[in-house]
Amino acid sequence: MRIDGEDDIIAVRRFVREFAEARKFDSFATAAITTATSELARNALVHGGKGIATIAEVADGYRVGIRIVFEDKGPGIADLGRALAGGNSTARTMGLGLSGSKRLVDEFDIDTKVGAGTKVTVTKWKRY
Ligand SMILES: Nc1ncnc2c1ncn2[C@@H]1O[C@H](COP(=O)(O)OP(=O)(O)O)[C@@H](O)[C@H]1O
Ligand SMILES: [Mg+2]
Repeated sequence: MRIDGEDDIIAVRRFVREFAEARKFDSFATAAITTATSELARNALVHGGKGIATIAEVADGYRVGIRIVFEDKGPGIADLGRALAGGNSTARTMGLGLSGSKRLVDEFDIDTKVGAGTKVTVTKWKRY
């Protein structure tokens, strides 16, 4: 899904919530992945200019999960340690999007290159 504007953040967020609900994720897990989605989609838009979110169902043989990849071709993150520590915004906002999202999901991976872009991959597993 394209992230070109505010409306797209809402659309991606809604899609992910419905995707989780359709797979009977509990309300806590659904809220967690939905909130992380908002933050990461917003980062792709605000810091990256625009981006793409790719949502997929994954399975490891025992359980089902949701994996979302957020990609942008923006400036990248020069100091990843600082960005992930939390409370460090270059946009004068809360600076808790990355650190908060990391805590809300089960798997979190960032691939970023200055001048080339950022790719954040998150996975939330369903609890049975
Ligand atoms: N997709 C991105 N592209 C470039 N920089 C990013 C991206 N996502 C996050 N950052 C950098 O990491 C910082 C921390 O991100 P975040 O915790 O979401 O805080 P906020 O968005 O409130 O600034 C941002 O201020 C920005 O400098
Ligand atoms: Mg943010």
